[in-house]
Amino acid sequence: MSTKTQIAGVELHSYIFNASGPKDVTFDELTIIADSHAGGVVIKTCTLEPREGNEEPRYCDVPLGSINSMGLPNLGLKAYIDMVPTLRARTKKPIIASLAGMKPDDFPVLTKAFIDSDVDLIELNFSCPNLKGKPQIGYDFEMTEQLLKDLFALGGTKPIGIKLPPYFDPAHWDAAAAIFKKFPIAFLTCINSVGNTLIIDADTETPLIKPKGGFGGLGGEYIKPVALANVRAFSQMLGDRMAIIGVGGIKTGRDAFEFLLCGADAVQVGTIFMQEGAGCFERIDRELAEILKKKGYKNIAAAKGKLKIL
Ligand SMILES: Cc1cc2nc3c(=O)[nH]c(=O)nc-3n(C[C@H](O)[C@H](O)[C@H](O)COP(=O)(O)O)c2cc1C
Repeated sequence: MSTKTQIAGVELHSYIFNASGPKDVTFDELTIIADSHAGGVVIKTCTLEPREGNEEPRYCDVPLGSINSMGLPNLGLKAYIDMVPTLRARTKKPIIASLAGMKPDDFPVLTKAFIDSDVDLIELNFSCPNLKGKPQIGYDFEMTEQLLKDLFALGGTKPIGIKLPPYFDPAHWDAAAAIFKKFPIAFLTCINSVGNTLIIDADTETPLIKPKGGFGGLGGEYIKPVALANVRAFSQMLGDRMAIIGVGGIKTGRDAFEFLLCGADAVQVGTIFMQEGAGCFERIDRELAEILKKKGYKNIAAAKGKLKIL
């Protein structure tokens, strides 16, 4: 059974693809994703200038997921814009750019460059939790609205979506949704890492990662309930006008199915791709297809948003 889906009219042959960040920084890494079973190829969040990122150790696997404070290490805008045609020649899959400004003025420059490129979708990263001294844009509703005004004024027809931080209060979902309704946003990607968490090793009596005194973004199983709630909430509020991409703690086809029930049009995987490698795309997709078949759903659309109410 096929798990094909679409986001803003862009077709994905599979419901599962990579999340921005893990193993998608270099051309070689992107090639591995392009050649895998992933439904699309998401590029590492790109900044105007190349970045080395934070000091090591800055990523650590833990039994239920991962913690990281990478600090957006990436090759910078020019390298990714130069890379897109070669990647395009390599794969027919949708290519998704992710971008983040180090200051508000960077966003229009980055966005315009990708609007003019051959990528299929643009994901604005409003939720990187790990830059020292920077609040997450998604938690600053004034800044969010202003940036969206500036970016949608650039025009063009390329679908643009937003990668959101996790919200933990219905008032925040409502406030965010009220802003998002004002713009022709193509998709929301929920959620980025749960920011500023701390995991320590009682043996060494130290945090697991070095930047920011050990505070970092949490991924993996720990965050799945938060991600599901964000997908469900935004799907109920905005699912009729924009696609919702689920991400956070997906390890199995059963996890992906839960996101589908909550209304996700597609899902991304971060930590499990980091840990298992590119084989995870085919495995999770196969597991999802088996569940759909067993339950008698003919395709993705038939199960989308079908969470039953108790
Ligand atoms: C090592 C690492 C780097 C990440 N870098 C980015 C990034 O550059 N841009 C972004 O939007 N999210 C980034 N994320 C967040 C993931 O895309 C994803 O939203 C988060 O890890 C939750 O998914 P997961 O539970 O499958 O890991 C990163 C995550 C990890 C583990």
